[in-house]
Amino acid sequence: MPAMTDASAAVTSVAVSTARTLPRDAALGVAVGPTGPVPRQLGMNRASLEANGFDGKPGQTLSVPLGGGLVVAVGIGEDPDAGGLRNAAAAFARAASKHAHLATNLTEVAGIDAKAAGRAVVEGVLLASYRYVGLKNDTSNGSKLERMTLVAGANRRRGVEQGAASGAAIAGAAALARELANTPPTYLNADDIADKAVAIAADSGLSVEVFNRDQLEAMGCGGMIGVNRGSTEPPRMVKLTYTPRNPSGHLALVGKGVMYDSGGISLKPSNPMHAVMKMDMSGAAAVLATMSVLKTLRCRTKVTAYLMCTDNMPSGSALKLGDVLTMRNGKTVEIHNTDAEGRLVLADGLSLAVEDEPDAIVDIATLTGSALGALGEKIAAVLGTHQGFVDQVTERSADVGEHMWQLPLAADKYRKLLDSVVADMRNIGGPYGGTITASIFLSEFVGDVPWAHLDIAGPMKVDSDDGIYSKGATGFGTRTLIDLATNFEAPNA
Ligand code: BES
Ligand code: MN
Ligand code: ZN
Repeated sequence: MPAMTDASAAVTSVAVSTARTLPRDAALGVAVGPTGPVPRQLGMNRASLEANGFDGKPGQTLSVPLGGGLVVAVGIGEDPDAGGLRNAAAAFARAASKHAHLATNLTEVAGIDAKAAGRAVVEGVLLASYRYVGLKNDTSNGSKLERMTLVAGANRRRGVEQGAASGAAIAGAAALARELANTPPTYLNADDIADKAVAIAADSGLSVEVFNRDQLEAMGCGGMIGVNRGSTEPPRMVKLTYTPRNPSGHLALVGKGVMYDSGGISLKPSNPMHAVMKMDMSGAAAVLATMSVLKTLRCRTKVTAYLMCTDNMPSGSALKLGDVLTMRNGKTVEIHNTDAEGRLVLADGLSLAVEDEPDAIVDIATLTGSALGALGEKIAAVLGTHQGFVDQVTERSADVGEHMWQLPLAADKYRKLLDSVVADMRNIGGPYGGTITASIFLSEFVGDVPWAHLDIAGPMKVDSDDGIYSKGATGFGTRTLIDLATNFEAPNA
């Protein structure tokens, strides 16, 4: 049997350093805008670039063999921002993907603060270099990148270095989230991810508690127990806590960790879409990845995290339609579709998070096909109970280039779709507005704590390489949660 290759380790082991001039032995990425001088390292003037179809537009690259090596003209467009640099760096990494050592002057782009530039360029290169290898016997398709040199003038060097260190940590976290989501379900069940969380906690200054089936039952986590009923593999809930000295606020994160979603008794049809249901733990993966770098990034916020992990399987013991579950907060739920399982596990996680009395809660989940239908594969849905906090999350997501769009919670209009004759609510609404009715369901478990919900069913994966994303899981949400935690401002109650 082939060994499992950890492609996220390849990302975190890249050596990143700064230098005053471009090194000779590296593939060089040279920033070129649509106007202005062309850096002499390219050995080409504007006219010959244009004759080769390169005009400096964002994301464009032109590879020029030079001596024994490679120089890549990297289009940065007019007045790029940090996001533009991130994308340009990703384009460079893809153009130079055969090379082990990359160097670039992209951090020298005028108008962008040195720290932000260092972070953006390292993030872009490392994120684009991630390539899942998994269980392939032939590992030659994996990332070749070993070293990265950032060219920075003396006055920017310190800032670029600091930004580069953050960028490397953040890209490493996103790669971890991708790796977990790409892993086949038999290789990563609830117990396995809990083991990983325990190992990560030990390395990352976190405290960790793992709850098994009996403990979850004793705690009244009826959602977790109910979803797990059809499975031969037990559930795990993982609680991680990051406590800095004199914390400046307290944020709680809850991740959907459905290790494989078959739909349960409401079985999904056998279609290619469902091979990606191994990624139904992408929310939990993003949360775990976020937690793994808070200490490195010297986060000042206390962060409590719940990973709600189980698979969703059909069997003789599985949850039946018409069954009623009693959740952690005492509310009762009538099951009308066992494929609406994410909200059941999240409900218990949200209730537990509320009991910790945080300043705000974010949950992240591959929750509804409707989110995919509404916003497509590149934009996540965000909904919540506190507009100021939803805005804070949305702003952080825009900063890191993880696009989100707010949908209305609209409980006044749609809560009645969840009415049940036998219980406090049903677990599904009507045929339309599924992202909204799922969110209204979740809102029943957040009490008065400002709350935002991220439905990442759309952007959880890409089907082919695309900028910073490589085919497979995207790790979407990880970088938003990291920036949210490290810049967190407790919302007004
Ligand atoms: N994990 C799925 C949602 C999903 C679908 C994620 C496609 C990523 C891609 C979720 O558990 C689910 O099955 N949702 C149902 C809810 C329905 C039964 C109310 C859905 O969206 O169809
Ligand atoms: Mn489902
Ligand atoms: Zn699911």
